[in-house]
Amino acid sequence: MSDNHTHGDNAGASEGSNVKASRRQFIKGVIASGVAVSATGYVVMGRGNGGKQSAGTVERLVTLNVNGRERRVDVLPQETLVHTIRYKLGLTGTKLGCDHSECGACSVMIDDVSTYACSTLTHSVRGRKITTIEGIEGPNGELDKVQKAMIVEMGPACGFCTPAQVVTAVALLKKNPKPTVQEVRVGMSGVFCRCGAYDHYLKAIMRASQEA
Ligand code: FES
Ligand code: FES
Repeated sequence: MSDNHTHGDNAGASEGSNVKASRRQFIKGVIASGVAVSATGYVVMGRGNGGKQSAGTVERLVTLNVNGRERRVDVLPQETLVHTIRYKLGLTGTKLGCDHSECGACSVMIDDVSTYACSTLTHSVRGRKITTIEGIEGPNGELDKVQKAMIVEMGPACGFCTPAQVVTAVALLKKNPKPTVQEVRVGMSGVFCRCGAYDHYLKAIMRASQEA
């Protein structure tokens, strides 16, 4: 009896600590899952909402036209295009810099217009033509004249901004094949280069514009 009683006490103590331990684990789990949700919310939602998920967090299957191909992908209502492109479609040439519409590193073409993908909702570009840096090359993999000119003029330094510079320059030349230097400066002003390689990029775009 005594043994049993003692055993029972020990068992009770042990059970009590197990309960406490499992409560702690439960609380930790709740905290951890809360952090995970917030982090996901931040990653997907970007700025301006304190990282909170809004109502309607269910992914929906949409079809996007990316680099001439139809891509079916599940996206959240508030998901931005840069996240869909990079993390769901695996097109990591498009860079994520500020995620705040400030640096231009995320630039892609939407219907041949250079656009910040970090401030474009993926749902809003269904049925539009999306072109990333991976879609700039020719059908046989040949480089675009802008890319060739950037190599000649040694445009890229670290290269982080280069995909956005290329995409934006291609869009600019589609709209204005023979721009002036000033027009190129203005047209490219939305893409920052932390390495300060602006003159190299400028020369490259002027060089590309002189090619037929
Ligand atoms: S990442 Fe989009 S503008 Fe900086
Ligand atoms: S080449 Fe480094 S940021 Fe532009």
